[in-house]
Amino acid sequence: MKKLAQDIIKQSSSSPEIYQHHQKLCQKIDRYNYYYYTLDNPLVSDAQYDALYQQLVELEKTHHDLDTSNSPTTRVGGDVLSKFNVINHKVPMLSLSNGFTEEEVKAFYKRLYELTGQENLLFECEPKLDGLAISIHYERGKLSYAVTRGDGAQGEEVTANVRTIRNVPLVLQGDYPEYIEIRGEVIINKQDFLMLNKRAEKRQEKVFANPRNAAAGSIRQLDSRIAAKRPLRMYGYGIGANQGFILPRTQFELMQQIKAWGFQIADEIETVKGVDGLLGYYQKMAHLRADLSYDIDGLVYKLNEIALQDEVGFIARAPRWALAHKFPAEEVESEIVNVDFQIGRTGAITPVARLKPVAVGGVMVSNATLHNMDEIKRKDIYIHDRVIVRRAGDVIPEVVRPLVQYRTVAQKIEMPKHCPVCHSVIEVLKDQAVARCTGDWFCKGQTKERIKHFASRKAMDIDGLGDKIVEQLVERDIVKLPHDLYHLSLPVLMQLERMGRKSSINLLQAIEQSKNVSLARFIFAIGIRDIGEVSAKSLAENFGSLSAIQKADYNALIDIHDIGEVMAYNIIHFWQNHENRQMIDKLLASGVNIINPEKPKVHEINVDNPFYQKTVVITGSFVDYTRDELKEKLSSLGAKCVNSVSKKTDMVIAGEKAGSKLQKAQALGVFIIDESNLLTMLKEFDL
Ligand code: IVH
Repeated sequence: MKKLAQDIIKQSSSSPEIYQHHQKLCQKIDRYNYYYYTLDNPLVSDAQYDALYQQLVELEKTHHDLDTSNSPTTRVGGDVLSKFNVINHKVPMLSLSNGFTEEEVKAFYKRLYELTGQENLLFECEPKLDGLAISIHYERGKLSYAVTRGDGAQGEEVTANVRTIRNVPLVLQGDYPEYIEIRGEVIINKQDFLMLNKRAEKRQEKVFANPRNAAAGSIRQLDSRIAAKRPLRMYGYGIGANQGFILPRTQFELMQQIKAWGFQIADEIETVKGVDGLLGYYQKMAHLRADLSYDIDGLVYKLNEIALQDEVGFIARAPRWALAHKFPAEEVESEIVNVDFQIGRTGAITPVARLKPVAVGGVMVSNATLHNMDEIKRKDIYIHDRVIVRRAGDVIPEVVRPLVQYRTVAQKIEMPKHCPVCHSVIEVLKDQAVARCTGDWFCKGQTKERIKHFASRKAMDIDGLGDKIVEQLVERDIVKLPHDLYHLSLPVLMQLERMGRKSSINLLQAIEQSKNVSLARFIFAIGIRDIGEVSAKSLAENFGSLSAIQKADYNALIDIHDIGEVMAYNIIHFWQNHENRQMIDKLLASGVNIINPEKPKVHEINVDNPFYQKTVVITGSFVDYTRDELKEKLSSLGAKCVNSVSKKTDMVIAGEKAGSKLQKAQALGVFIIDESNLLTMLKEFDL
């Protein structure tokens, strides 16, 4: 080895032997890694491994021409990004339909039985890991890039961080296709999580609420050296885009193939027969759950035969051939110490129960929402009650019910007459459960929430403008309206708590960067009541500019996919308000530059279908689709989905309990299609 080192120094470009030596070393270390992390069966001692690894580091240090792009040395991280790239998924990353009860599992099975005409269907069953979804692309066997799920259509490129995950192969083992995208879940094991938090506690750093948050936070680290220090694991569960890959016959075999490429897959994977097999697997896993090394929030049942999966296909965002059978949300007992009222960004006042702290699913909970006064009345809840508290996944904990048998003192919960923050009158509209503070931008409670929303990731995406900073800025009257953010200065930021020079400079840069914003994000950011991310996108795509949206009347608005009557009313109401118009003028005057969308390209639609350029009304309810999913499907086929039936309507899709719209269509002689005909049409045209 000494001789080799001397040779290295002498040579300016590496010899074939050095290349080969480097490759062998990489392969050897990869193999040790695999045995250690994936198979949990170390082949060599830590000292032997470290010595070999050091050799590799030295070799790469002295030979800059070696290809180190997939070397095990890249696992320590190095790249520090200022922002993640956004990448379109080659194949959309869908979600799963959920079921909670035995009945829902039976309904899932019955649907598949009816669709396939086969009895005793086989399923491949897996634990549903509670982490975050990841897609990893391999080109000619080498890890090329990795993306988070994001919204399913596009996600963030997190390659540098994924490379640091020790059980993710940098190079695929055995035979591999030209191109393959592996999908799976990034998690942190329960035990690793406890150690991670212990370490954080010792260093007086922030502890994570649960393994899922820790995994998600680590993958979204801009500094990959930090991600490298987190005990992340990845478990494969499927594939996405691929080229030169012949699919096996079954899901089970596909999982074995993923394993053979060097990925870890869950140990508890099984194939079972029929609905009894599914329910038996559930019973077994419910018992095993506490002893598993990772957190799971349910099970996933997948039709085993891949040809059958193709046959039954998808509904909008989820495969029809799979079901996530979720475990029930965990419930615990606590006591309501007091009730406070929180102000949201729309002024809505939400009663929040302050609880005696209690652990639910590994997280300490001391607040739980009581939703609104009607809920309090309906559930019969009083201050000092002992109550059942529930928390499911990342959902805000809620008070389920009081334990009336223990009630001694019952202090009534009363809605304040004035806002606890700005003392404006609280308005309770007839027929609406929600009470609202009328203070608008005058209320610091509302302003804080509006600015947080404005700066949030899916809105203006101002990185580094965290809740604590917003709260200080509003509290000190530095920010009263969104445009004030664009007039902040270094000295002003530096006088805030926990803001040093560097973080202030970074924040100013992020604020500056946020000025160039897409129309959809801008519409979402300004916080029109009930206009979420999806409807903001629809408005942007359909009208194409801010002024066109401002000019749109009620009819033009409700003709848009995703915009209902209340939303249309809220949009019009928003523009009628002088303060809102001024707020937007001030933003534009402060340098915000709205980028209008390009018109969707019509040629991408397969024009050879019966819905193309037809004006369609969807009414009633459907078994296989929600109305929104149907709208999305038909719009993607070039249909114009509108809300009201008129002479101009080409067809009405009428589900169960269709009412006045169906009657009107019948009266006008409009072409009517029911759900089963619709499914046949979609199938016939292979849509
Ligand atoms: S399969 C097309 N299998 O659950 C279906 N998903 O709502 C692709 N998940 O975000 C998903 N464990 O990340 C599948 N064994 C498993 C899973 C799993 C966890 C996550 C997945 C996705 C969500 C589905």
